Amino acid sequence: MIQEMQRAIKQLKQENNVFILAHSYQSAAVTEIADYVGDSFQMSLAAQKTDAKTILLCGVHFMAETAKMLAPEKNVILANPHAGCPMAEQMEPEWIETVKAQKPGFQVVAYINTTAALKAVCDVCVTSSTAVKIVRNMPCEKILFIPDCNLGDYVKRQVPEKEIHLLQGGCPIHAAVTAEEVQAARRLHPNARLLVHPECIPQVLENADYIGSTSGILDYAKTSPDKEFIIGTEMSITEHLQLTCPDKKFYTLSKKLLCPDMKITTLTDVYHALTGEGGLEITMSPDLMAKARVCIDEMIRLGN
Ligand code: 13P
Ligand code: SF4
Repeated sequence: MIQEMQRAIKQLKQENNVFILAHSYQSAAVTEIADYVGDSFQMSLAAQKTDAKTILLCGVHFMAETAKMLAPEKNVILANPHAGCPMAEQMEPEWIETVKAQKPGFQVVAYINTTAALKAVCDVCVTSSTAVKIVRNMPCEKILFIPDCNLGDYVKRQVPEKEIHLLQGGCPIHAAVTAEEVQAARRLHPNARLLVHPECIPQVLENADYIGSTSGILDYAKTSPDKEFIIGTEMSITEHLQLTCPDKKFYTLSKKLLCPDMKITTLTDVYHALTGEGGLEITMSPDLMAKARVCIDEMIRLGN
């Protein structure tokens, strides 16, 4: 049944010249039919490069918005219209403008997990794999980092030469993991390396053997000579790794590491989006697109 659906999807995407872009948190059934699978930064680059006329995005809304900004001449469709990232909507643009007015001389760095409307009032975007590099490369010493205070705190420790202010926001999934869960996982798997995403709280990060984005974690685990790993990010990564490296053992750090928004997209959604009966076509006013794109272009310039 799954294979039949995958075959039908592959045929439809070929007939209609559609490029399927999937985040690595998507289920294996979805990543198997994708033309490209990656982290947020890699997805942005892939959206910019493809010459297909339609991009079908399996991920969450802000990722489809980013793809649209980078490929405005293409149709960009979000496979499941309900897939949103709760962190992306945590801060209102008007509030950030007020905070900015109180901090003269500060540049605002927005995590890519934000709406286009919020990006429009910020100076540069970052992803988890590019945040440290971009903040270091920015020709500015005072930075307001939004919305993820955990990623922001991690960047602050890596770039101590800059003054970085944070606001209270973050990923409800990663931020829910506790230091006690780390201790319990360590007790259970004493020989395993702990690999965590920087959206986790500082008390979790300080116990990690490696801190990195989803692609960073995937690469580290695949190339490491070690044989056991505790994975501190969305549990799809544990599954993908276990499938790719059957000679190694992978454990998810916490059962809370399941993002419902990333899991909502099914093969049926992809199929319906390809037949035109489903999906959400991303549209944006030219004014919003132009303002928000400044942030994205800066991210690619400073992060590449
Ligand atoms: P990365 O893909 O940049 O690691 O981000 C993880 C994430 O939470 C995406 O929603
Ligand atoms: Fe958003 Fe967190 Fe889900 Fe990523 S894992 S989409 S940051 S809620």
